Amino acid sequence: MKHSISPWTASGMKDNNAQFEPRIRSFLENIVEDKPRHALFLNMLSMLEHLGSRKIMLSQMNRVMSQGTLQHLSEEARHAYFFKRHAERVAGKTLHGWNDENTMARLPAAMYFGRLDAAITRKVGADNAYGWVSLIIELRACWLYAIYQDVLEKSSDHMSLKSLLAEEDRHLTEMFDICGGDHYILKDLSAHETKLFEKLLEHLEKHLVNNKKAA
Ligand SMILES: [Fe+2]
Ligand SMILES: [Fe+2]
Repeated sequence: MKHSISPWTASGMKDNNAQFEPRIRSFLENIVEDKPRHALFLNMLSMLEHLGSRKIMLSQMNRVMSQGTLQHLSEEARHAYFFKRHAERVAGKTLHGWNDENTMARLPAAMYFGRLDAAITRKVGADNAYGWVSLIIELRACWLYAIYQDVLEKSSDHMSLKSLLAEEDRHLTEMFDICGGDHYILKDLSAHETKLFEKLLEHLEKHLVNNKKAA
């Protein structure tokens, strides 16, 4: 289904998240110039991308896997690899998997994903969860990575998120086309995700403060 309005307008996501933009920007500005913590943050993004690709795989187990879904799954798996590669580059060492030592806010990040997945599945049913979970997460990914890209361009780290962002943008359009028709549900789920994101952001900020105190 093609829509006459954008997923941003239909979800109200950008307006609802304008209040968090200065906070995430200042968090990112801190983190990119601090290699050990930047590595932990990159490894957290790698874990979230991995959870995303895993979710797609599990949700399609009893279905016929389409070319489009396989492409989506493989791109999310590649994003997990991309962030892992950069996490290890910045850390200057191998980071095995995702544990409390090598992943920033590992448990809160995993809980963010798990709670979001559970809440959306409850609301729209397991059969529709793939499209809706993806749509809501793509909004967050596009929002976050655009700010992150902007911060990186002004930093000493020259890593580029441009091709990754282009893929997330395409996923967002595709997911909106398959299930964004009900703007009431979209607004509701996006507002719920924003609450969960705020909790994760608080953990990320705490992590910074705690580490600064400890340093
Ligand atoms: Fe992704
Ligand atoms: Fe994506």
